[in-house]
Amino acid sequence: MQGKKIILGISGSIAAYKAATLCRLLVKSGADVQVLMTENAASFISPLTLSTLSKKNVFSSVVSESAWNNHVELGLWADLFIVAPATATTIAKMAHGICDNILTAVYLSARCPVCIAPAMDLDMWKHKATQRNISLLLESGVMQLPVGYGELASGLYGEGRMAEPEEIVAFAEHFFASENQFKGKKILVTAGPTHEPLDPVRFIGNRSTGKMGIAIADELSRRGAEVNLVLGPTDLQPKSKNVRTIKVSTGLEMYDATKEVFPECDAAIFSAAVADYRPLYAATCKIKKEGESMEVQLVKNPDIAAAMGKIKKPSQITVGFALETDQELENAKTKLEKKNFDFIVLNSLKDEGAGFQSDTNKISIIHRGNKIENYQLKSKENVAVDIADALKLYLLK
Ligand code: C5P
Repeated sequence: MQGKKIILGISGSIAAYKAATLCRLLVKSGADVQVLMTENAASFISPLTLSTLSKKNVFSSVVSESAWNNHVELGLWADLFIVAPATATTIAKMAHGICDNILTAVYLSARCPVCIAPAMDLDMWKHKATQRNISLLLESGVMQLPVGYGELASGLYGEGRMAEPEEIVAFAEHFFASENQFKGKKILVTAGPTHEPLDPVRFIGNRSTGKMGIAIADELSRRGAEVNLVLGPTDLQPKSKNVRTIKVSTGLEMYDATKEVFPECDAAIFSAAVADYRPLYAATCKIKKEGESMEVQLVKNPDIAAAMGKIKKPSQITVGFALETDQELENAKTKLEKKNFDFIVLNSLKDEGAGFQSDTNKISIIHRGNKIENYQLKSKENVAVDIADALKLYLLK
């Protein structure tokens, strides 16, 4: 982490005492650390401790000794902003854009990735208000380190402990180590639903939002890949300006766009929920409500992943998704073979918080040779990190 610029934001929790170790470890690993503290944090741990460890002045207010601490400059300076501990209040302020202290003011000005390590009592952590705020932050692309389980300052046992300083440093190291990892690689991602028109106003579609595929595209781009995202109809879009997005509407359009880009790609991740069938004819005028029933003839859409699997060169890596409701493992393994994927990502609709219209996902990765890796429920951004890590093993062999 030599020379990496890290802002360490400390808010008022008893876990603030661990921020001293965290600061020490970050500095030891070569990072340039700027500490920000809320006023409440300064009641738990002395700014002097942190300024000694970071070898820099600590900022605990927007104004100090009649000088203005330039939060905009700080926000632009950093390569990574870590908020540890992140209390329920700080999380709420970040989620709602309340910048009444130096930490949250810098958060609103920051252009760098932001990561929070929450710390609070178990009921506060589980409270709907906190979870809503966490969801808002995850939606805005903030990364969240998982909370630990164990004894809390209240004497209660449960979830809510701040991640250990060593875990936070390991996260930061992985974050920077993976930067530019895929430089020179061209990767295709398909994402989102498809809309198959019945007439000018109606279509057959599905509930996919494209969030998972977009998160993958962003993560691959962060790692330096040249990403082409073939995206079905959705309001969402990648955060990274470097992702080349090709917007399509129908399965046939997605097929054409994919066919065009795939041959020159090093890898492709097929996460789109393509409609299996489309209406044979789309009426040119709005269909009128006439008889008691109506029939629509459907024809099969091309299976994009399977078609690319047939023409793929030995050097190309392809990754599929399987969203299953039953016999999950068997179905996923069949798709792995049939579509010639190198590995397949399985998510089950039986798992709460997984699948469509959710900010989180719970996946298993199935490799050839029956190697299966099961992952915890995570934000889709963090699932994208796991998928990119799995891809790395194939792509950088
Ligand atoms: O057969 P099933 O739709 O469950 O397969 C899922 C996998 O195949 C996903 O990776 C999906 O993106 C891809 N697929 C595709 N074209 C289709 C159907 C599925 O690329 N027409």
